Amino acid sequence: MKILPIVLALCLAIACVAENPALVAVIEEPIINKVRDKYFESALGALGTLTMPDFEEGAITATNIRVQISNDSPQNLVVGFDNESNSIKAEIKNTNIKVQVDYKYKAGLVTVNGDADVQGPIDSVALSLLMDKMEDGEFIIPQIAVPDFDLEMDNSKFDLKLTCKGCIKAVESLIATFMKGTLLNQVKDQVKEQVPTMANEIGNGILASSYPRTFPLLEDIRIVTALTDAINVADGHLEIPLDGTVYTEEKGIVRPGPTPDMPRYNPESPGEAQMFFSSYLAQTLSHTLNTLNKLVIKTRFLLFTFVTTIDPSKGKTAISFDNNAIVATIYPKIVTKYLKLGVELGTVVKVSLKIKNGDSQNLLSVVPKIKKLNLNSFKLIVLGIPINLSLFKFLITPFVRLFLNFIVLPTIEIPKSDLLPLTVTDSLLSFNKQYAEFGISFDFEE
Ligand SMILES: *[C@@H]1O[C@H](CO)[C@@H](O)[C@H](O)[C@H]1NC(C)=O
Ligand SMILES: *[C@@H]1O[C@H](CO)[C@@H](O)[C@H](O)[C@H]1NC(C)=O
Repeated sequence: MKILPIVLALCLAIACVAENPALVAVIEEPIINKVRDKYFESALGALGTLTMPDFEEGAITATNIRVQISNDSPQNLVVGFDNESNSIKAEIKNTNIKVQVDYKYKAGLVTVNGDADVQGPIDSVALSLLMDKMEDGEFIIPQIAVPDFDLEMDNSKFDLKLTCKGCIKAVESLIATFMKGTLLNQVKDQVKEQVPTMANEIGNGILASSYPRTFPLLEDIRIVTALTDAINVADGHLEIPLDGTVYTEEKGIVRPGPTPDMPRYNPESPGEAQMFFSSYLAQTLSHTLNTLNKLVIKTRFLLFTFVTTIDPSKGKTAISFDNNAIVATIYPKIVTKYLKLGVELGTVVKVSLKIKNGDSQNLLSVVPKIKKLNLNSFKLIVLGIPINLSLFKFLITPFVRLFLNFIVLPTIEIPKSDLLPLTVTDSLLSFNKQYAEFGISFDFEE
């Protein structure tokens, strides 16, 4: 009887207030390897040179310490997902380090200046990166921790090149011991201390300052990209649960209802990257469009600019998912400057979306097609004057369908970018009433 209130309190504090995500992004393990193979060299180039503070021990002062890290194959980096500890494990083998240093030896009246170069292998560096989260006001953002960090190196495998002009053997041997002992241990300790600290402080600092809580969609409309929970490390893939509430800056975030459950991974999907969109997304988008004063979108077709206005006072927008389609009730006014010609309609459309894999210019294209269209009302606008033709809506419907197919719903081409030079190898886009699913597999271009 005593346990219940505690469970309830815990429940209120964590699980029970947590919203389901409306948007889940999945990354499968093969992608990690593709990214590794593509960016390994440049990442190592950027991270490969470290400096360390000067230090002194006994009679020796080490200054101008430069550490160079090299590794000749991406295959040396092995990344794995550990679903038990919710962490990503990484191990890198066969790393070579070269430590260059200037030194000063001073004992009594003897002073020697020189430099040294110690070079050898780090047999293995292993770390585990725990996926964590932090509350930031009304948002949850990702954080990381490095609970385990291991570095294995054997000082006796290191080679030393030492300049020690006019040194007697005893001094030279003292300096050699310092370089292969004290200096290497210092480097090891620094790395062991700095890597987890850097990940925690710098990594989390960057996440806290730069992780986008929200993202602009169109005009004043934004989507919440904050998380609903920490990134989930599953067996063979990562699941990133995003809030997905659509809102306007003017009205702020309003949740039109709870987000229903949906799958967060599809093992049958051809996509190594997958996205799941809850029907909540369609609901929150409709809600947002209905609370706007007006949404104005400009599109171009041939020589004409079309201005599409969605005004909630003309009728309520409703968007929902259906099997293999999106169903939308919309009341758009579409006009072009030319002769102030246009249409104003109230319509229920069922639109299917198909994905076409890319070509030399495009990553991929999304092809919308109107499968069904019912007109509730129709006005033709000539010279800015609306003419009510609702009576003839059955005659007009096929023309409206053609017009919408070609002008308002053009194929959306997603161009290739230098930032992500990808070739799509397989893809999937499917809809059902509860959720939509998108999957894509790709290779990096050479
Ligand atoms: C981790 O994945 C394995 C294999 O799919 C599964 O048997 C196990 O229950 C999972 N553990 C957790 C904590 O999810
Ligand atoms: C347009 O015409 C239809 C059918 O004649 C009618 O029901 C409707 O009320 C008219 N709408 C307006 C805004 O006049």
